[in-house]
Amino acid sequence: MTRPLPEGYAWLSDEIQEVLFSAEMLQRRVAELGSAISIDYAGRNPLLVGVLKGVLPFMADLLRAITIHVEVDFIAVSSYTPEARERGIVRLVKDLEMPLAGRHVLFVEDVIDTGLTLSYLLRNLRARQPASLEVCALFDKPAHRLIGIPLKYKGFDLPDRFVVGYGLDYHERYRNLPFVALLRAQVLG
Ligand code: IMP
Ligand code: MG
Repeated sequence: MTRPLPEGYAWLSDEIQEVLFSAEMLQRRVAELGSAISIDYAGRNPLLVGVLKGVLPFMADLLRAITIHVEVDFIAVSSYTPEARERGIVRLVKDLEMPLAGRHVLFVEDVIDTGLTLSYLLRNLRARQPASLEVCALFDKPAHRLIGIPLKYKGFDLPDRFVVGYGLDYHERYRNLPFVALLRAQVLG
């Protein structure tokens, strides 16, 4: 392993192949994103919108790295069928609580893969007539992109591999890891 498992996580060595981004690397980059957002949105009281549940740790850290007034809201989605998911069509199982009209909205995502889900959600949000609508993604997997997404803020590019940790799950596990890692092939099955 190029980057060792941090203290207290030796028990995961059978499941984790490699740590790609340490907690320190993530925190440093999130702080930079928060500074940039604080400068760009000064005086505009932005509304950060996240999709549950993967965005939770990133959103929590990003919010605390923003040094201007900011508000937050969440949506939750579920797929109708695997076919619908492949086309990016999702059902909102929890809608936003706040109206978007006239607001400066920053959509915050954990990872953009094909971009289909995000593209569908952005169309939905745009119809509510925000004053502006931009995207901040912690991870970008450009290799899989099927649809163009304008990314205003990006944390890191990811290789075309499945990663877990810092909100990203495999069958709901690993979201709690403070770092991001590759799973061993035998775990992925
Ligand atoms: P897409 O951009 O519509 O393909 O969907 C992106 C979503 O797929 C993300 O919000 C994640 O929930 C999930 N996803 C994509 N890549 C990964 C990964 O490497 N690990 C965990 N979840 C992922
Ligand atoms: Mg997600």
